[in-house]
Amino acid sequence: MANIQRRLDDRLTAAIRGLFPEAADAPAIVMQAQDERFGDYQANGAMALAKRLGKNPRDVAAEIVAAADLSGIAENVEIAGPGFINITLSPDWLAAQLAEVLADERLGVPSPAQRQTIVVDYSAPNLAKEMHVGHLRSTIIGDALVRVLDFLGHTVVRQNHMGDWGTQIGMLIEHLADDRHVWDAVLDLPMRGERCIPRSLLPDLEVFYREAKQRFDSDARFAQRARMRVVDFQTPGGSESREVWKRIRQTSLAHAQEVYERLGVRLKPEDVRGESAYENALFDVIVALMSAMENGPSKYTESEGAQCVFLNDAEGKPRFVSKEGDPLPLIVQKSDEGYLYATTDLAAIAFRTGFFKELASGPDGSPEAQSPQADQILYVVDARQSLHFRMVFECAYQAEFADRDKHDLKHVDFGMMLGSDNRPFKTREGGTVKLMDLIDEAEGRAFDLVTEKNPDLPEDDRRRIAHVVGIGALKYADLAQNRTKDYVFSWDKMLSLDGNTAPYMQYAFARIHSIARKGGLDLADLVRHPAADEGFALAEPAERRLAVALLQFAETVETVAADCLPHVLCGYLYRLAGAFMGFYETCPVLKSEKAVRASRLRLCGLTAKVIEKGLNLLGIETAKRM
Ligand code: ARG
Repeated sequence: MANIQRRLDDRLTAAIRGLFPEAADAPAIVMQAQDERFGDYQANGAMALAKRLGKNPRDVAAEIVAAADLSGIAENVEIAGPGFINITLSPDWLAAQLAEVLADERLGVPSPAQRQTIVVDYSAPNLAKEMHVGHLRSTIIGDALVRVLDFLGHTVVRQNHMGDWGTQIGMLIEHLADDRHVWDAVLDLPMRGERCIPRSLLPDLEVFYREAKQRFDSDARFAQRARMRVVDFQTPGGSESREVWKRIRQTSLAHAQEVYERLGVRLKPEDVRGESAYENALFDVIVALMSAMENGPSKYTESEGAQCVFLNDAEGKPRFVSKEGDPLPLIVQKSDEGYLYATTDLAAIAFRTGFFKELASGPDGSPEAQSPQADQILYVVDARQSLHFRMVFECAYQAEFADRDKHDLKHVDFGMMLGSDNRPFKTREGGTVKLMDLIDEAEGRAFDLVTEKNPDLPEDDRRRIAHVVGIGALKYADLAQNRTKDYVFSWDKMLSLDGNTAPYMQYAFARIHSIARKGGLDLADLVRHPAADEGFALAEPAERRLAVALLQFAETVETVAADCLPHVLCGYLYRLAGAFMGFYETCPVLKSEKAVRASRLRLCGLTAKVIEKGLNLLGIETAKRM
């Protein structure tokens, strides 16, 4: 089935191998043509190949074209400029491919050559704080990747690595302990299931947390007590500190789950395996590190009372240095014996790859767990943690918690969400923006928009559509940007009905439904597999353009998965919707004569299906009416 780009690449590569065995590894470099005048695809490999062979690039291109078997696929192959190969696909071949895609539940997307088990580590909010925009990107991007990888056919293991352990929480608990009323109020919270805990506690906790942090930073005695409190709440048994910890944790979990449900994110309570879950594995990590580093180029040592790994390359030179050029240690245990963020991440890697076959039940009461034996682990985390992950990954490889050839550890980093002033996105008062408030506002603004367009629709319907549009706009605005860059958040832009936005895509989808309705048809009628003598007629340039765009869904999804770049899918959907609008303007559908009408209705139906699936992979819903 269709991944056109790869199919062409395979044919041209085969030609290169046959012609030039001395340069058999030379790539054909096939890509989608940027300009229609140059055909549908372009191969640019002849130039580099010619240079390598000491030949004229146009001659090399001509030899490749003569030898390549593109019969049936291409209608026209031309050599242009210094040695570009321009390929125009044959309309008959396109029509046959479309008929196959129409009959295929996967819309032409092939299964991966190798099914993998992929852990996606995303969202990961911290305890005692309401979720804020800082976790929005991780949650949305991570969820889109989960959906894409799952659709391709990989085994996807979602992991919510919540920050539920450590000094911060010690501070908070110590601070709460100073106020008997608050302390008792927390202890009185019921502890059955996750939902019975009132989340109204959370805004207060956040204030307490800020106060605690201030005291910790300014009062050495408080800081000392807070550290002792860490030991107290981390020790199993029924201490009050521990009971308080459990309640704060449950409250935070219930809140996060509420956010996920409103956002339509796939994370479930059972996907939470927070930092605390690795508690019983941390000592083993230290032991394994000590023995692994004994004979290697890296060193496990004590430095200023802390246990550190100095990561070196094979020649013994430091892999990570500070700006001043000093070797940077990866600290795994503090002088007070407490473990760190890095230690927990190392334990998590060892568990996820299967170096640790199982995880004992954690202090949070999580059951014992078997390693997912991941082939790949994706960390959807802020770019500012890049050094942390580079060091942790390197350490994990050197300690053989992961194998460089077998386990792909990838930091899927992302930039910041900025306000219109190009500074980090904040409330008018300069505070962090809470995710719940952002969601409320998105739905509220979408509701106004929907009401303006359909004042006569019953309010329930308008609310339902506003949810689909508002959440869709919020997600799409984020996903449409190259994740590695910062982006400026703008309500007006993301709710606009034209441009690369969710409402634009959703509108295109609704429009196709209305075409079907006008013809007295249902969308399902449009996409029924045609009989052999029907199929697609692609006489008009706009029909042809739409056909090519529809068939590029497969290669788009594969690229998104390979590079973890959801914006590639947004860009594709935007082009597809544009091709559809162009087609709809120039090619009458319902008024055409029978065979043409049927083909055009099928193009409409298939476009709706691809848009729906594409948005679904981004975690965005559609509505038949808007
Ligand atoms: N809780 C962390 C934060 O809010 C993110 C955790 C990311 N995942 C991980 N395995 N380190 O910054």
